[in-house]
Amino acid sequence: MDNLDLNIDNVYPFVSKETIDEYDELTSYHIRHLHQRTGRGSNFLGWLDLPSGITDESLVEIEEVAVELGKKIDVMVVVGIGGSYLGSKAVIDALSHSFSLCMNSSSYPSVIFAGQNISEDYTSELIDFLDNRSYAIIVISKSGTTTEPAIAFRILRKHLEDKYGEQEAAKRIIAITSADRGALRKLADDRGYRSFTIPDDVGGRYSVLTPVGLLPIVQAGFDIRQFVAGAAKMEEMTRPGISFHDNPSAMYAAARNALYRQSPKTEILASYHPKLVYLAEWWKQLYGESEGKEKKGIFPASVNFTADLHSMGQYIQEGQRNLFETVISVRKPSRNVEIPREKDDDDELNYIAGKRIDEVNKMAELGTMLAHVDGGVPNILINLPELNEYFLGQLMYFFEKACAISGYLMNVNPFDQPGVEAYKNNMFALLKKPGFEEESELIYKRLKSQNL
Ligand code: PA5
Repeated sequence: MDNLDLNIDNVYPFVSKETIDEYDELTSYHIRHLHQRTGRGSNFLGWLDLPSGITDESLVEIEEVAVELGKKIDVMVVVGIGGSYLGSKAVIDALSHSFSLCMNSSSYPSVIFAGQNISEDYTSELIDFLDNRSYAIIVISKSGTTTEPAIAFRILRKHLEDKYGEQEAAKRIIAITSADRGALRKLADDRGYRSFTIPDDVGGRYSVLTPVGLLPIVQAGFDIRQFVAGAAKMEEMTRPGISFHDNPSAMYAAARNALYRQSPKTEILASYHPKLVYLAEWWKQLYGESEGKEKKGIFPASVNFTADLHSMGQYIQEGQRNLFETVISVRKPSRNVEIPREKDDDDELNYIAGKRIDEVNKMAELGTMLAHVDGGVPNILINLPELNEYFLGQLMYFFEKACAISGYLMNVNPFDQPGVEAYKNNMFALLKKPGFEEESELIYKRLKSQNL
């Protein structure tokens, strides 16, 4: 079977092959440290061998819960933010029918998301949607104390209890959280919710191969065994001892680090599939939170082509030259649609009549890559044979491994996110959360002095 493959030929016009080859020793060194657990953040490396380490027993448990709930619900609401929702949202979007929510024809529940914002309108409209539907909740928070999902869960829990009564509501709630810490663990234990554990040594953004990602994915009707198998294949392809040129994660980390050192400080992840928009959101969180610290890091941005060629394309082609582009190219579409021939050819499209839409998409992809390279934008190409569970497993583990190596190449800890606390502290001070009295006084004085 084919595998994900990486092509950095369009990096070489910008960074010499010799420069990239110098990363051979360096990446082997960091991969060794990762696996020996002697690098920075080494108590957060549980994700490294999740694919090969997942037991059949734990997969069966996840599948059984999904099957049981699936029988009585139309909708599963997944409550979580950041790493607690982006992985499953990325996979579900990539594999779902583009119009699944409007079609109502699937034998699986629709999986929708909440707790990833604090929008009153979103919450109220969600309640409208759930009022006349049979639903259940998967609430995910490793810390068990994150404000956004906690608010959404409190509101949804009440709605569920009002609708079904406390006993039945408790049967419709699954908590995924730490084994022994946080408010969500306490709630789950006190109220008798079924629960799954997020291992202490797996950070949120590296958790898609734990129940955090797997339960929502299987609930939506997708094959988590294939997803895990794909990730396990990539675990094998990137393990210590694999040569630099055969290890796609090492090569990707090397190419992007070499570019960063030379000048580009922004990486744009591009794809030509609307179903991959959330895969890019997941990737942005993974790289942004892992690398963006100590005044370092490549800024992760994303575009979805060809739509964004009619908006961001101009900037990428001719704007400030501080970018490089990483394209996820899906070799084979799942469907087959040909462009029909018309006798009169009034729209002048007969020159492509008889071609599949994907042939045109591929020419747009190729033409854009050549144009961007000519315009001074280095290009890294990730070829994915197909959009299915197996290759998504490969792709996500590939990015995780490369992210860890990239963080080590930048000499940052890729597994913490200390900067995320700053907004929370201000918000808690503004909301006068108990324990934030001093900060509260200071922040209100500051606002007054600024006429805010
Ligand atoms: O990657 C991370 O660790 C974060 O993005 C978390 O996933 C996010 O902040 C949500 O945290 P929690 O699962 O504790 O609610």
